[in-house]
Amino acid sequence: MQFEIVSQNPASTGMIGSIFSRILRFGDTVLLTGELGAGKTTFIAGCAQRLKIGSQISSPSFTILNLYTIKGRRKFVHADLYRLDSIDEILNIGIQDYIYDKNAIVFIEWGDRILDYFKMPYIEIGFEYLLSDEQARKLVFRSSSRYWDNKIEIFKTNLKKCKSLE
Ligand SMILES: Nc1ncnc2c1ncn2[C@@H]1O[C@H](COP(=O)(O)OP(=O)(O)O)[C@@H](O)[C@H]1O
Ligand SMILES: [Mg+2]
Repeated sequence: MQFEIVSQNPASTGMIGSIFSRILRFGDTVLLTGELGAGKTTFIAGCAQRLKIGSQISSPSFTILNLYTIKGRRKFVHADLYRLDSIDEILNIGIQDYIYDKNAIVFIEWGDRILDYFKMPYIEIGFEYLLSDEQARKLVFRSSSRYWDNKIEIFKTNLKKCKSLE
């Protein structure tokens, strides 16, 4: 299934991320796609805030993978594949260990680079610039499974309850 929403500014994108994070469970992986500056990291920071990740989320472009721990053994993983070209390079960072870890929530920017090798239900969120407004972005949620379809339905209901996004 596919679901789209327009974000009017960075704060809205963070807020949408925060609402989205309510459907996340440990073991989930979220793939984010879209050009540089489209809002992927802003969205992840919104998710992190609600999941009570203590530190400020930064773009991991140079380090490729940032790992935050929640209450000891739970993990919040933020990867950015921008600088990696081949699937071998991507698998070298050990991302699959986290994808299959039931105690990890994993976010992967430039996730389209790993999509062909993905054997799990996934959610892909595409971030697109809109020509009409410099501050506006279209967020397109694409689900590959019943598992994510159901979660997206809950997300849509939660979004409707949020007045500040109207
Ligand atoms: N609606 C919006 N949502 C997210 N970011 C926006 C929006 N409008 C403008 N921006 C700006 O675009 C940039 C997005 O940066 P970032 O989230 O790091 O993108 P990415 O991770 O996709 O490269 C920030 O400078 C932010 O202030
Ligand atoms: Mg980024």
